[in-house]
Amino acid sequence: MAPSEDTNELDRAPSQGVGPEYMSSTEKPTATVSTQVSHANITILPQTPQLIALLTMIRDKNTNRADFIFHSNRIIRLLVEEGLNHLPVREHIVTTPVGKTYNGVRFEGKICGVSIMRAGEAMEQALRECCRSVRIGKILIQRDEETSQPRLFYDKLPEDIADRWVLLLDPMLATGGSALMAVDVLRSKGVPEERICFLNLIASPEGAANFAKKFPKLRVVTAFVDKGLDEKNYIVPGLGDFGDRFYTL
Ligand code: PRP
Ligand code: URA
Repeated sequence: MAPSEDTNELDRAPSQGVGPEYMSSTEKPTATVSTQVSHANITILPQTPQLIALLTMIRDKNTNRADFIFHSNRIIRLLVEEGLNHLPVREHIVTTPVGKTYNGVRFEGKICGVSIMRAGEAMEQALRECCRSVRIGKILIQRDEETSQPRLFYDKLPEDIADRWVLLLDPMLATGGSALMAVDVLRSKGVPEERICFLNLIASPEGAANFAKKFPKLRVVTAFVDKGLDEKNYIVPGLGDFGDRFYTL
């Protein structure tokens, strides 16, 4: 779905009628949809009524924690399902119970998840639901509240991570500092950037651009590219502090 023509560089929050193709424009309510970015390494989820309604729920400051968790989990599940589309498959032919063959595919290669603690851990459950007994590594990076600079405290990753495809998990991509640092950790363990897929709920245009510039072969799958960052480097309009809203508020 392409955003409307009236989007320009100064107003990077496009409005669009939200609904299926067959509905007339008068039937579709208008909503702010994701900014489209030109980086080849980013995939933005289709801006469907369902996704926009889920995002509306978690952006609302009056949404309580139980609803925030429930609706975030639904979006995260969509992100995981899309992320899996970017892993390699190979031809696989099966015979059905009526004796006919079906030309299909199956996943090839080993995967693991890596969550950037703490908020990224919220994405582990959806990955486990899609990939039974998947190995999950952890990287603890915290962003300094004053300077927005990331600090690495800890990492614990599968020993054979260099042989795996990595689904990197963090819901918020603001300046990009934390996720870029996590990618540096993965590369230092031998994971090439083209074998990393970063799953993210809301990105800023600045964070997306930083990623595309530094790691153009690393795929980013996001639900939404937002308008920008505020003076504290929070994503706007954003949803506030994801970790606080998911775990402690
Ligand atoms: C948040 C978020 C990202 C980071 C994004 O984590 O989960 O990791 O900030 O900001 P950046 O792109 O500017 O680096 P935070 O450090 O606040 O920790 P938390 O997960 O404990 O909330
Ligand atoms: N971390 C968050 O949780 N939200 C932001 O907007 C930026 C960083």
